[in-house]
Amino acid sequence: MKKRLFSAVQPSGNLHLGNYLGALQNWVKLQDDYEAMFCVVDLHAITVPQDPAALRQKTLEIAKMYLAAGVDPAKCTLFVQSHVKEHTELAWILNTIAKVSELERMTQFKDKSQKDSKEGIGAGLLTYPVLMAADILLYDTVVVPVGKDQMQHIELARTLARRFNDTFGETFAVPECNLSKEGALIMALDDPAKKMSKSAASEYNYIALTDDAETVRKKIKKAVTDSGTEIVYSDSKPALKNLLNIYALLSDKKPEAVAGEYAGKGYADFKNDLAEVIVNFLAPFQERLKALSDEEVLKMLAAGAEKARTFASEKMVQVRTRVGFLA
Ligand code: TYM
Repeated sequence: MKKRLFSAVQPSGNLHLGNYLGALQNWVKLQDDYEAMFCVVDLHAITVPQDPAALRQKTLEIAKMYLAAGVDPAKCTLFVQSHVKEHTELAWILNTIAKVSELERMTQFKDKSQKDSKEGIGAGLLTYPVLMAADILLYDTVVVPVGKDQMQHIELARTLARRFNDTFGETFAVPECNLSKEGALIMALDDPAKKMSKSAASEYNYIALTDDAETVRKKIKKAVTDSGTEIVYSDSKPALKNLLNIYALLSDKKPEAVAGEYAGKGYADFKNDLAEVIVNFLAPFQERLKALSDEEVLKMLAAGAEKARTFASEKMVQVRTRVGFLA
């Protein structure tokens, strides 16, 4: 029996190279070795206000992006979170063993709640990591491939699995994080101290997976670089290090080797080539994306939800019994 793997993306904002290199690229590599489940987490997206029609469209678009990136529905289970009601049921139960203090410590919550006044934040933003734990624990997941920004949430899922098992008896597997080496945290193009982010104020922060060639060239040209002229892979040059990581991951090379190829050359040469490496990745990706019809993807998602439900409903029978609900 292969071990279970689970991962997901929220259908909000524009998917960018950070999402691809931190998550999707890794999923595609791992889907052969695990019983993989890839989910579009629409219940997570509504922790901030969404336009209903746009959310529906975005959910479908993200599923198409998984497929265009190489996620193969013949090898994995591809589905939408809200199609499997057990996610919300388990989230409620886990909410009763999670502590408010644990949730208030989450960096993402702190960041998001600082932007708004406390009166203005939905409770969902606080309890969101519990829903994420439910996504993972529901399927006896062992491996969760994500970017570094999600590690704290995975740690909480581990805590809740152990706490539930200690209280009610062995029920959940304790999951582990799987990080892509160089892709675990892709930084913003306009500020190497911040992560590349869907919700960034400036579009110069990221390369969206839907950006056209001219936009990519413009954004890479404007990307900040460090002082000096030499192309080296070093922590002392964080902006360049980030660009080298992107280049290396998209061309299946080591970043040090890429830096070596540019010995004696300048930033301009490197940036021109990097833009072409990105364009050469995005063009066929976008072709695949365009070729997918809504109908075929909706069919795949329905089949995926059916498969996921079979497992999830069995698991919930066990959970309900452990907690003490009448059969
Ligand atoms: P989300 O939608 O913000 O991001 C999706 C994936 O992309 C990764 N990522 C990055 N990786 C590298 N560099 C970056 N700059 C970067 N930005 C984002 C994220 O780490 C993530 O892997 N809560 C999750 C979604 C989720 C989930 C789950 C994930 C819900 N339930 C269960 C795994 C398992 C989120 O908001 O990811």
